[in-house]
Amino acid sequence: MRDMTTSTAAHTAAAVLADSTAYAEAVGTAAKAAAAYYATGESSLDDDAYDRLVRGIEAYEQAHPDEVSAESPTGKVAGGAAVGDVPHTVPMLSLDNVFSAEQLRTWAASLERRIGRPVERWSVEPKLDGLAIAARYEEGRLTRLITRGDGSAGEDVSHAIGTVIGLPDHLAEPVTLEVRGEVLMTNDQFEQANTARTAHGGAPFANPRNGAAGTLRAKDREYRVEMTFFGYGALPLPDSDTACAGQLTDRPHSGLMEYVADLGVHTAAATLVAPRTVTTVEDIEARVEEIGALRPQLPFGIDGIVIKADLAADRSAAGSGSRAPRWAIAYKLPAVEKVTTLLGVEWNVGRTGIIAPRAVLAPVEIDGSTVGYATLHNPADITRRDLRIGDHVMVYKAGDIIPRIEAPVAHLRTGDEKPIPFPEACPQCGSEIDTSEQRWRCVRGRNCRLVASVSYAAGRDQLDIEGLGVTRVVQLVEAGLVGDFADLFALTREQLLGLDRMGETSTDNLLAAIETAKARPLSRVFCALGVRGTGRSMSRRIARHFATMEHIRAADAEALQRVDGIGVEKAALVVAELAELGTLIDRLVETGVNMTEPGATPPADASEKDAADAVVAGNAGPLDGMTVVVTGAMTGVLEKLSRNQMNELVERAGGKSSSSVSQRTSLLVAGENAGSKREKAEQLGTRIVGPDEFAELVADFLDRAAA
Ligand code: IVH
Repeated sequence: MRDMTTSTAAHTAAAVLADSTAYAEAVGTAAKAAAAYYATGESSLDDDAYDRLVRGIEAYEQAHPDEVSAESPTGKVAGGAAVGDVPHTVPMLSLDNVFSAEQLRTWAASLERRIGRPVERWSVEPKLDGLAIAARYEEGRLTRLITRGDGSAGEDVSHAIGTVIGLPDHLAEPVTLEVRGEVLMTNDQFEQANTARTAHGGAPFANPRNGAAGTLRAKDREYRVEMTFFGYGALPLPDSDTACAGQLTDRPHSGLMEYVADLGVHTAAATLVAPRTVTTVEDIEARVEEIGALRPQLPFGIDGIVIKADLAADRSAAGSGSRAPRWAIAYKLPAVEKVTTLLGVEWNVGRTGIIAPRAVLAPVEIDGSTVGYATLHNPADITRRDLRIGDHVMVYKAGDIIPRIEAPVAHLRTGDEKPIPFPEACPQCGSEIDTSEQRWRCVRGRNCRLVASVSYAAGRDQLDIEGLGVTRVVQLVEAGLVGDFADLFALTREQLLGLDRMGETSTDNLLAAIETAKARPLSRVFCALGVRGTGRSMSRRIARHFATMEHIRAADAEALQRVDGIGVEKAALVVAELAELGTLIDRLVETGVNMTEPGATPPADASEKDAADAVVAGNAGPLDGMTVVVTGAMTGVLEKLSRNQMNELVERAGGKSSSSVSQRTSLLVAGENAGSKREKAEQLGTRIVGPDEFAELVADFLDRAAA
């Protein structure tokens, strides 16, 4: 199992409370944070800090049971202030936490000891990072929404009915019951909420959970913001008929959730991390690990995994404490969000002249690594988020994703924060900046970063010119021999010999490598151009679709949109880019660089397009219509192929290459040490082949793969 144990433990080591003063202070801080969180969703402590504090309080209370304060968050149902006056028919409990596989096993064993038999089946589900809510349905009609409040009474937030996706106004059957679950903002909803909020002069929400909390309680907003509900439980109401009540209380939890979903309520069933039932603790651990690994891909936040005894008999035998049920536990995942300070913003010029801001942060440890930088998309994004230097910002990082700033924590502002200065001239070359688009760009475009753009063109996945590393490119540019990458093809032996550290052998080798590069397929030549909005995979799609550079250049935006993955905006950008690159392309053609894609046929006129597509599809090859993912190290005849070359091979053989396994994946090529992608494909029942079997399948296309 992935070692969540150590990384979690490292982050959540309990705060050490030395004496009763430290204890009282900690209780005060925790109570304040919890009250603020339950009231508005805004807390000055991130989850990790809160957990650490509460566990420190717990440890102190264990050692000093006679000093336990009435204010302590450990003794209360919800750990927060009482809010609201609608009594819950059955208390809305919280969950106890475990932080490691070992603690999970100890908990499961103690539960089994308590009920005197093994738990027959467990439900393992995502712990959704939002707010608990009770939705009351009377005869199938949604009548009331109530927050958890202090667990025994909550606040009536029925005004939010209609803005919560997943809670239908009417159920599929006219039943009376209460559905309980979590209201949250998906990442998209959070972005939309902050756009709407800042457009109306409000401060942005720091993170999706704060967004959901604030939005749920807000009445009479001028703008509408949506949230999403995920049901995780249901119970009868006093007016439920007996048959229905029996159905709800006697079913296994998994069956109950199926019933709730059949009634039309949204649950986590349709997500990547759908609840599963398993029978052993080892299986729970495996699923915990899977859900943890899937976390970065989810379009909503989770902060753990909830494990529940599935059968009603096991649950009632276990019973509940005053704060939490004994039949369920939350396995907390490491926090992926931390509050830190925005120290400054750096402006970096990319290969195509784009000037991109990057946030410099006070280093903060998130999920096992130190984060010192985060992406900021463009100046408009900075303005929209109302970020200022010195701000406390909520930073999110999960798995391999690039850390991002969610938003400033506006209520922590002191007034000393400073506006972020935007550059007035290109930070690379001092030229003017073209600010007409959202992404700012040096007016010199690619020429601003000549070395970077020539090195990119010569790179392994583009023209693959051996011996032409960055140092050599710098030399060529500084000697005035190269002003764009077409100049590479005009270099003479004498010119190269005149450079430092260029002997006869290296010169001849470089010239030979440049000559070889002239014959690369169009997809690579196109990629070498560095057209904005197109990378390796898009370049292959364009080259295969149009077959020749002439056809690509002749294409208007409409024709470009026929390429899979090109929409209106990208089509317009590519057309503009190709016009800008016109002279360079002409010169490449003149120097004899190949401008055709082997095996591809140009599209017929639009009017004949459907017929032509049919012909192309008929000839496409053994992977026709298949989406193929390659993972792990290739062996045998495929051993030397880079991932890019494998993807090229897939596409030559008629398939579509993709980097992640999903329901749409038709085939996984799994090499040595294939990890989570293989596991996911196995779960999804996707066809899996090894490198040798795959090589046989695409044998006819193999010889061209490394071209
Ligand atoms: S079961 C009595 N299931 O986590 C059982 N809770 O930290 C309590 N939560 O108050 C709830 N996802 O707001 C349950 N799949 C899930 C959950 C979940 C998120 C929340 C819920 C609860 C809190 C405890």
